[in-house]
Order: sequence, then structure tokens, then C-alpha cells
Amino acid sequence: MKQILGTAALTASLLAGTAIAAADSLTLYCSADEAWCQLMARGFEEETGIKVDMTRKSSGETFAQVKAEAANPKGDVWWGGTGDPHLQAAEENLTAEYLSPMRDELNDWAIRQAESAGNRTIGIYSGALGFGYNKDLLEKAGLPAPACWKDLTKPEYKGQVQMANPNSSGTAYTTLATMVQLFGEEDGFQFMKDLHKNINQYTKSGSAPIKAAGLGENMIGIVFMHDAVAQAASGFPIVTVAPCEGTGYEIGSMSIIADARNPESAQTFYDWALTADVQSRAKDVNSFQVPSNTAAVQSPMAPDLSEIKLIDYDFKKYGSSDERKRLLQKWDEEVSNLPQ
Ligand code: G6P
Repeated sequence: MKQILGTAALTASLLAGTAIAAADSLTLYCSADEAWCQLMARGFEEETGIKVDMTRKSSGETFAQVKAEAANPKGDVWWGGTGDPHLQAAEENLTAEYLSPMRDELNDWAIRQAESAGNRTIGIYSGALGFGYNKDLLEKAGLPAPACWKDLTKPEYKGQVQMANPNSSGTAYTTLATMVQLFGEEDGFQFMKDLHKNINQYTKSGSAPIKAAGLGENMIGIVFMHDAVAQAASGFPIVTVAPCEGTGYEIGSMSIIADARNPESAQTFYDWALTADVQSRAKDVNSFQVPSNTAAVQSPMAPDLSEIKLIDYDFKKYGSSDERKRLLQKWDEEVSNLPQ
């Protein structure tokens, strides 16, 4: 009940604000899936009258853009994408501190993310990393179903695996950081080198490899498990795998850009995006992450994180500026340059 009243009161205050702030606008940088980004932009515009100019870019790309624009910021809110680059942005003072009245409604992991960044970011969803494969292509090739990370390095999958580039994509950076945490730095990089031999393409966006698999253009995609489930939900022959060794996960995040041009619209969006009602809409566009608002309704198709062997992902370390830069540089120098 408290939940319903809280959301109703917030909606009422958002609507009251509409009358006086009809000319307001918001520049939204979005790093979740395109359909969800559109839903958020249009929904906010309709419900508040605040005009939204939305751009979808991957997490690492958005981080780079926010950094490049720091002297003259153009974006107001960065919504979605993996938490690591949001944490790096916080550390580099590229984003602003904000304490939303909606915090009481959120899961602990969302608040922990905020607290580890001086409240310059906050968790909006979470999801486990894994992979998916096109079962028709696999059967046609007569290959066994991969069940573990290490399976993906076997020679029989040469040219059949796709992942994104960890510089542009938060999904791929989460993959790199997961391997370092799961296997240790040396063996983690060895895994990335062995995997490299089987990679047919490093894409820009994190979910592209499983979309390609859905269309039959690629066999195996390393992605967040919910992105693989989304392909199956759309009717494509995709099987989702929780790797046997265990896996990392993301805390998808949101941040207000420092010295934003529209700080009030930014805070209004931030509070709105944290409501149970708005977070419950994700499933309508096949986004099956775990929402950060405890009262948000999740799809029954969403992967159950309590059934997946998750590592104790060190977000503070792997979202720190030094560590993220170091790992990306090492991957550029030692992995991506290797011959295949
Ligand atoms: C997909 C996932 C999100 C994730 C995002 C990161 O959209 O559904 O959960 O945060 O990818 O995108 P990126 O392109 O940076 O890997």
C-alpha cells in the first residue's frame, strides 16, 4: 500500500510540475537495449510533457562521450548500461551526486552501488552474464552443446563465437573482468587469448552477438543471459546457458551528468525511472533484467539469479578508473592483436 501511495504521490507531483515546466527538455544518453530506451524516452515525455532527446550508445562509448564533453556537457541523464563505466564516471567527477526520494524502495544492491560511488550513480537493474547459442545451427554442424566457459575455447567452435569489444561494450568488459575474477588474472587472460581464436567478430554493442545468432548469422554469442532469453521470447531458436564454472553479473546503472543543462528535468527523470510502475514496463519490450525497485513486477521468463552460480563481483575494483583502463589496455595489447 505504502508502495502504491508513494508512486501515486510521485506521479501527482510529476504531473503538477508539468504545467509550469512544459517547455523543459531532457537529453538522455541510453545504454540499454534500443526498444527499452525508446519506451523510457517516449513514456517520460508523455507523462511529464518534458521533451526527450535520446541517443542509444553502448556503455563504454557513452562513458567516452561524457568524458569528451566534460568541459561543455550536452547530456543530462545517462540511463542504463553496465555499472562499471558509471562507477568510473563517478570517480572522475563526470557525474553528479543525487539522493533520490525513491531510494527506500530499492534493493540493497542498488543502494550499495550508489554508496560505493558517493551517490553519483544508482542501480536500476541487474543481470547475469552467460552465453546463448542457435540450436538449429549447432545441430546442423553436428557440434555438442557448450555448457561451460572453457568449452567456448575448444577448436571445434572455431569461427562460431561472437562477443562485443570490451572498449565499447559494458557486456564485453563485464566478460573480461569476470574471467579475471573467476580464473585469476593470468589464467583469465589466457582464456581470453584462447577464446580469441574462435571469435568471428568483436561487435560494438553487447547484445549484437545474440541478435546475430537469432538471425542464424552466428552460432554462439557471449551476452547477458537476459539478452539470450529475449531472443528465445521473440521466437528465435536460442538456448540460454549459465556457464558451469560460475559467472559474473552487472548492476545496470543510472547517473546524472555533472553540470547538466537541465538539472531539474534530470532529477524528475531519475525519480520516475526508479518507480515500480516504470520498471515493471521493461518486460513489455523483452528486457528481462531484475529490477532494482523491490515492488516492480518481473517477467516469469527472467533468469532467476538465485539459481545461477554467481561470483562475488568486485564492482568497486573493476569499476575503478585505473583498473578499467589497465584491463582494457592489456586486452588491446595482448589479446585483440593476436593472429587467429
Ligand atoms: C544490453 C543488456 C543490458 C546491458 C547492456 C550493455 O542492452 O540488456 O542489460 O546493460 O546491454 O550494453 P553494451 O552495449 O554496453 O554491452
